[in-house]
Amino acid sequence: EAIEKGGYEHFMLKEIHEQPRSIKDCFRGRLNVDEGWVKLGGIKDYETKLANAKRIIMIACGTSWHAALVGEYLFEDLTRIPVEVEYASEFRYRNPIINEDDIVIAISQSGETADTMAALNLAKSKGATILGICNVVGSSISRITDAGSYTHAGPEIGVASTKAFTAQVTVLTLMALAIARKKGTLDDSRFRRIITELELIPNKVAKILEKAPKIEEIAAVYKDATNALYLGRGNSFPVALEGALKLKEISYIHAEGYPAAEMKHGPIALIDEEMPVFVIATKGPSYEKVVSNIQEVKARKGKIIAVITEGDTQVKAIADHYIEIPDTDENLTPLLTTIPFQLISYYVAVMRGANVDQPRNLAKSVTVE
Ligand code: G6P
Repeated sequence: EAIEKGGYEHFMLKEIHEQPRSIKDCFRGRLNVDEGWVKLGGIKDYETKLANAKRIIMIACGTSWHAALVGEYLFEDLTRIPVEVEYASEFRYRNPIINEDDIVIAISQSGETADTMAALNLAKSKGATILGICNVVGSSISRITDAGSYTHAGPEIGVASTKAFTAQVTVLTLMALAIARKKGTLDDSRFRRIITELELIPNKVAKILEKAPKIEEIAAVYKDATNALYLGRGNSFPVALEGALKLKEISYIHAEGYPAAEMKHGPIALIDEEMPVFVIATKGPSYEKVVSNIQEVKARKGKIIAVITEGDTQVKAIADHYIEIPDTDENLTPLLTTIPFQLISYYVAVMRGANVDQPRNLAKSVTVE
């Protein structure tokens, strides 16, 4: 087992550090910046159908559901196709409205999650086209779908999903880009800008991983917290949900992810000097709004741990702690902002003596209902 962990103390830490490589593996052969193309061989026969789709439904559970939420922003922005994101367990029991021209995309690391399988079978029985984004090659979901794309992240052993999530988001990005080109909703210069930035993501992830010692120091400050709040807006909202889930799963600290502006409708009541509030405050269209959300937290003595863009001065000045990440295209920020949160959760869990790779009550793949 020590050999399998490749010198790391836990599989989770190894998998976090594998991300520069796993993201690269995910787009290898699917992206060419010099020639200016993106292609996903697995779904090539469905590209026209996807480009003409009136709506796309994404179904998943857990971390994969968070990837689907990031996918919703990507697809809506780049392809202008309406997307609905559903928990598989809710979708299957709701008598959902499914039409023959609907495209249902299941996202699953294991490809074995019982609820996701059942939801897919239901959609199939109603005549929808069903596609899959799976990590495990030859898994049940990859076999029952009409077509799909693998994430190629390699085996993920830690129960808390890390590299599978960033690979899912990478595939969703490639898919949205391929459809957008087909549909004509993305002009050449913007397309080129995004793929150029996408190719730089593995190096930027590696740069964030170099900050692990600083992130470990921050974790030490908050390891005894009983509650934590994660805030983000736009495509950073799913990252906030995923950050909170990671902390809950392995450190057993109660954590909630919220859209930053919704804080005033509830969670703000919880804020006191004991409460760590993790905020994604990277440069982008909602930056100024997030800055005011941070001020609202500070006014109530909450502690701010902000993920900011390199060179930022405004948030740096008001946050209790900050983690700088490299700048990238707005659509790609989730691939970077999620990394510090994975590391925070990991270090907090280790400091609390928790079983990081096999947290209590959780399974890597939930094959029963
Ligand atoms: C379990 C795992 C999670 C995972 C979820 C969905 O809860 O512990 O890490 O996100 O199942 O699994 P899937 O294999 O369908 O992505």
